[in-house]
Amino acid sequence: MNPFSESVHLDTDRIRMHILQRFFTAGQAPVSGGELAGELAMSRTAVWKHIKALEDIGFGFEAAPRRGYRLTQIPNLVMEPLLRQYLNPERALGRTVFWYPSVSSTNAVANQLAKSKEVPHGTVITAVEQDGGRGRQGKTWNSPAGGLWMSVVLKRAFPLVRAAELTLMASVAIARAVEDVAGVELDIKWPNDLLYGGKKVCGILAELRAGGENVEYAVLGIGLNTNVTSAQIPEELQPIATSLLIVTDKETVQAQLAAAILNEFETLYDSLLTHGKGFALVADEWQKRCVTLGNHVKIRTPQGVIEGVAHRVDGGGVLYLMNESGDETAIHSGDVLF
Ligand code: BTN
Repeated sequence: MNPFSESVHLDTDRIRMHILQRFFTAGQAPVSGGELAGELAMSRTAVWKHIKALEDIGFGFEAAPRRGYRLTQIPNLVMEPLLRQYLNPERALGRTVFWYPSVSSTNAVANQLAKSKEVPHGTVITAVEQDGGRGRQGKTWNSPAGGLWMSVVLKRAFPLVRAAELTLMASVAIARAVEDVAGVELDIKWPNDLLYGGKKVCGILAELRAGGENVEYAVLGIGLNTNVTSAQIPEELQPIATSLLIVTDKETVQAQLAAAILNEFETLYDSLLTHGKGFALVADEWQKRCVTLGNHVKIRTPQGVIEGVAHRVDGGGVLYLMNESGDETAIHSGDVLF
């Protein structure tokens, strides 16, 4: 859906999706321009123009004389037909995708779209780059081309008191997916930053709309430094941020990683909805990956900076700091300052 720009007419998107789908189905075989023209009720020249537009965003085609075109190159993007190849077909997350070359913030777009009844549960918004990427606590988020910037619209109601579990479950889902797809083991910093060698690789921003005691819809924003080069990380972030590309020296297939995250997360989210078991299901794994527990930490909270030993996390993701006298303080939200 709407894969080319925020303003292009939806018909154009559907046409290009149809063309791509035909090439994916054909594999190495050529697809006839005449057949495409017939299916789309347009001239061969019009089909050729759409193929040119696809080339502009990184797809490669070669003309097979008298037989049509062959798909020769697929860009490393998170567009719907690319994502679909890796998604669990019975699942809802990622079935509808809005892809943008550039957008202010996928979370901002997702919040807008979530209000519409026509936008289904599980819709994913993704962009090549963001020029107004949002981080937690009002911070900005560096989002150059090469990273995985995506937001998921979650529309199944669940109790507001369980909301903190969303990002905690997401952090485990992302860590598992990154391990499977990129072979990198990430640490978790409470509540849900993912780190490699002490440097941040991924951040999560959940935004909610509540109606009474329930979450009406949630937007789960994931920012993952996948194929971000060192030169794309601003100087002030160099000491605290890294990327999968820097760590592995290999490009990650973005659609494969995005699908793995969605598949992993959906299982946990569904369990929260159906059995009321969300974070509790992965709390042990979360604790094993967590680099905050057991350390003396300072945490910036809305109530000021609190210090102590990060002692334990409960089933709802609340962190307990212990002071020298052995008293515990519950921390519901904050930023760990090492
Ligand atoms: C953090 O501060 O750690 C959270 C960062 C979340 C960034 C992601 S990128 C995709 C989505 N769109 C946004 O504007 N923010 C989130």
